Amino acid sequence: MEVLTEIARVCEQAARRGGAALLDWSQRFTIREKGPADLVTEADLAAEEIVRQTIADSFPDHQFVGEETTPSAAVEGVLREATECVWIVDPLDGTTNYAHRVPHYACSVAVVRAGEVLAGTVYHPTAEECYVAVRQGGAFLNGEPLAVSRTQSLDAALVAASFPPRIDRSGTEVQKLLGVIERAQAIRRTGSAALNMCYVASGRLDAYWATGTSAWDIAAGLLLVREAGGTVTDLSGGPFSLSQPQPLASGTAELNRELAAILGS
Ligand code: IPD
Ligand code: CA
Ligand code: CA
Repeated sequence: MEVLTEIARVCEQAARRGGAALLDWSQRFTIREKGPADLVTEADLAAEEIVRQTIADSFPDHQFVGEETTPSAAVEGVLREATECVWIVDPLDGTTNYAHRVPHYACSVAVVRAGEVLAGTVYHPTAEECYVAVRQGGAFLNGEPLAVSRTQSLDAALVAASFPPRIDRSGTEVQKLLGVIERAQAIRRTGSAALNMCYVASGRLDAYWATGTSAWDIAAGLLLVREAGGTVTDLSGGPFSLSQPQPLASGTAELNRELAAILGS
């Protein structure tokens, strides 16, 4: 238990340092395309390096998976084969917002062992909001306990969605979006998967789904939603897996069922 306390402390410290690096770079970065409509800046790289270093200083034997240094194709294997802790890091979630000077982005750090998230922090530097969760220890925003919303039906729900960088009008993402738009109170696309999960954890959003995220977008948020009393499944309402992260997160099981009936097909 003491070890978990130390892991959680370093997790928060790493995310806060990563977030500080993002603020530090925010007036002087340049933008490059990793792929079509998929951006990266010096801030992504600088934040990942300071997060990696912070973790290595305390836990040199733990494995590290970071968006900017670990090939996406390697993540599933690392998660499957690791016997000790794996740190999963998105140094800057919301790079497109960051590049356009929209202040909605975050640094996300999580620690996973045997498929379970032990600790997670999402730090939103421009809002000075730090979301922290520890397995079986609760979820907190700047030290205050978090609780999900109690909204049970879609017609009363504010729901967010994320999509991969490029989507096709005849593709499945658009069909799912149309299915939800028809019935939800309102829909948002915020540009940060990690913050969407935090907003479900805090009850600001009633639900969130994504068709094309990676483990580093979601790992910390997964623990935050669950520790705040919410539900995270795959899009059909089945078990969620970090190896194939298509999350459906909601405050209540009732809302999860209603959304899964639309999104799971
Ligand atoms: C992206 C954001 C976005 C989600 C994408 C992610 P990035 O993260 O979380 O909301 O739709 O799947 O890749 O690329 O800015 O780290
Ligand atoms: Ca991301
Ligand atoms: Ca990123």
